[in-house]
Amino acid sequence: MKLLGKVALITGAGGGIGRAIALRLAAEGASLALLDIGESLAATAQAVRAASGRCECEHADIADAGEVGVAVAALQARLGSIDCLVNNAGITNHIAPLTRMDPARWERELAVNLSGPFNLLQAVLPAMVERRWGRIVNISSMAARGGLYNQAGYSASKAGLLGLTRNVTLEHARHGITCNAVLPGLIDTPAVQAMPALVRDDALALVPARRAGRPEEIAALVAFLCTDEAGFINGAEIDIDGGSHLCPVVLGSAREIRERQAAQQGSSPGTA
Ligand SMILES: NC(=O)c1ccc[n+]([C@@H]2O[C@H](COP(=O)([O-])OP(=O)(O)OC[C@H]3O[C@@H](n4cnc5c(N)ncnc54)[C@H](O)[C@@H]3O)[C@@H](O)[C@H]2O)c1
Repeated sequence: MKLLGKVALITGAGGGIGRAIALRLAAEGASLALLDIGESLAATAQAVRAASGRCECEHADIADAGEVGVAVAALQARLGSIDCLVNNAGITNHIAPLTRMDPARWERELAVNLSGPFNLLQAVLPAMVERRWGRIVNISSMAARGGLYNQAGYSASKAGLLGLTRNVTLEHARHGITCNAVLPGLIDTPAVQAMPALVRDDALALVPARRAGRPEEIAALVAFLCTDEAGFINGAEIDIDGGSHLCPVVLGSAREIRERQAAQQGSSPGTA
């Protein structure tokens, strides 16, 4: 119960990783302020309460600063000031070559994945500064380092989130606030399960651990970063990817994978 008495706000709490983070932080004793744009938030709240956790929910689009301000004020009125912020909500809404990307979708990925965390930071940081204590965890991605084929908007927004993380540390470490980025590799969530099997299996074969991560493994790291014990870890970028950062995972298209496999078979000894 290392977070007893703390209030933790988690965005995207209705999703695969967000729900695991909510359950873990509740198990550590935190009261939860859960925020999501979608209806799946209710199932997370039900799971938290079934596990005897305390939570309050608000729906908001994190890309909209006005909506974020209203939602955070409503959550704080019920739970008190936010001690821990987990910027977890994120989207991949466009898989296309750079030259054919739809500018509106590019803008939306940046708005949700980068401006969203910025909006949350503006809403919660002043109270953290006043109380001289705060924990912020930004969920980035392995895409922030190695890029992700045909996902320029996602990669750029997740790389931008690393820059934002560094600035929070530079400006607020002296106020007792830590801000760290977590960079997951492939995690076994509904979104990853929904990928074409050929694409998913091809990528997993490149993961040194030869498996996807579990949402609970991300949640355990986030929970630690929210504790007092983690108070000197600041501005860090922590890979949690089964070693993928050593051996970049390529999410190709099914057509490209078949072409590569055919080329490999054609060039292997004894097939000529
Ligand atoms: N699953 C993976 O393999 C993986 C890998 C690397 C990074 N990540 C990152 O982890 C985070 C969680 O991923 P996930 O797999 O659980 O995704 P998910 O799609 O299951 O969950 C994301 C949640 O965010 C919410 N959301 C989306 N747009 C929002 C908005 N504008 N305002 C408020 N809420 C919004 C969704 O409704 C959803 O509940 C994301 O930031 C994602 O980029 C995931």
